[in-house]
Amino acid sequence: SPLVVETIAGIRSELEALRSAGKTVALVPTLGALHEGHLAHVARARELADVVVVSIFVNPLQFGVNEDLAKYPRDLDGDLARLQPFGVEYVFAPTPAEMYPDGGTQVKVTGGPVASLFEGRSRPGHFDGVLTVVAKLLQIVQPHVVTFGQKDAQQLFLVQRMVRDLNIDVAVEVIETVREADGVAMSSRNRYLGPNERTAARALSRALEAAQSASDRGIDSVLAAAQAVLMDEKLVTLDYLKVVDPKTFLPVDDGYRGPARVLIAAKVGPARLIDNDSLYLN
Ligand code: PAJ
Repeated sequence: SPLVVETIAGIRSELEALRSAGKTVALVPTLGALHEGHLAHVARARELADVVVVSIFVNPLQFGVNEDLAKYPRDLDGDLARLQPFGVEYVFAPTPAEMYPDGGTQVKVTGGPVASLFEGRSRPGHFDGVLTVVAKLLQIVQPHVVTFGQKDAQQLFLVQRMVRDLNIDVAVEVIETVREADGVAMSSRNRYLGPNERTAARALSRALEAAQSASDRGIDSVLAAAQAVLMDEKLVTLDYLKVVDPKTFLPVDDGYRGPARVLIAAKVGPARLIDNDSLYLN
């Protein structure tokens, strides 16, 4: 089973030795409470590099004051058991004090205009917290490749922009969204759902399917089709439903043709859920 390393100096010295011996390193950054979605990253990382590092860190910087930082699930033993079959070499599991000895950072990575839209609008400061911790993790681990999930499409876009804009020497490997049998995207926050809410949560992926089916009738039809599915579910409160241009992550104009991405965020009972899908508008 993986070696659990809690200090920055510790993981650095372990990896330095391996890198100088010519080994390649893959990093899978996570908040822990690992599910099958995370494990798809681990499996892919295993294929891409000699040494796999999974980071498990519930990053306080990316949680808003009224968010679920305190009750976010933490289960290191369970996580280690789930990683067992993959032969992961290291789990980097620092404490908040190890990552933020001054309680935070003075200097932050900010995501620019896209970081204040969609998720960023509902969760002010969230993406600065994400990008800052991801920049730190990349500096600490210095992986050749790092995995990010399409499930968090805006996070993925902003990480790709950070890597490009700041010339970070890492390859970003995109992992497709892993879903439950009924279509619900796997998420650590699904465990906040009661049985009726769990059933209602299907509306997000069903709305994406409806959007997909309407994609040859234009943007208005796409939005109407998805909205109808979401509005039909009483336990679902829609936060936003948007169609963006994947190149800019900005909302597409009427009459846009080409590749697009539909984004959905909704409250289902106590859980805030997000999902998205690619779309071709013609
Ligand atoms: P977390 O929510 O734990 O997700 C870790 C990685 O798993 C992210 O890249 C996320 O997009 C991906 N992921 C989540 N659900 C997935 C699913 N159903 N299928 C495939 N991949 C999925 O995202 C974070 O943590 C944090 O913001 C982090 C990047 C670790 C920075 O703190």
